[in-house]
Amino acid sequence: MPKPIKRHIALRPVSREHHQGLLLSWKIRQGLKQKVELKRIKKYTDWFWKNHLQQHFEFEEEYMFPILGKEDKMIKRAMREHARLRRLFNTPGRLEANLSLLEEELVSHIRFEERELFEKIEKAAAEEQLARIEKEHSHNDAEAGEWQDEFWNEN
Ligand SMILES: [Fe+2]
Ligand SMILES: [Fe+2]
Repeated sequence: MPKPIKRHIALRPVSREHHQGLLLSWKIRQGLKQKVELKRIKKYTDWFWKNHLQQHFEFEEEYMFPILGKEDKMIKRAMREHARLRRLFNTPGRLEANLSLLEEELVSHIRFEERELFEKIEKAAAEEQLARIEKEHSHNDAEAGEWQDEFWNEN
């Protein structure tokens, strides 16, 4: 995995969640490659969505995206991708196809945010907006515990 970009201190916790998201995609990829039972992978992605990513999306939408505003092209793209990913996480059928799309699209969404969108937000944000992000994020750290079924370490 490439080294994380040097971020403003206020954005680092959100960037760390991106690292976890990239790891999720890697785990899905491993699971699919090793022909792990699809239901096991889906259980994990459901758990990860509920305990980590859902809050991450909401946090970005509430505290970060408004810094650029709804009309911004990059924000429009990010919102479209959030809607699409929410759907992929929450669609029950077509497991193999959906997991594989999820894996790809999550990586590309995260790379877009890290390389382009967060750069722009960082430049546009006032100090107090960054301070607010830092403060609100610290309330947001859920204690989700560890997932026991490590299907990605099967072989
Ligand atoms: Fe996002
Ligand atoms: Fe994100």
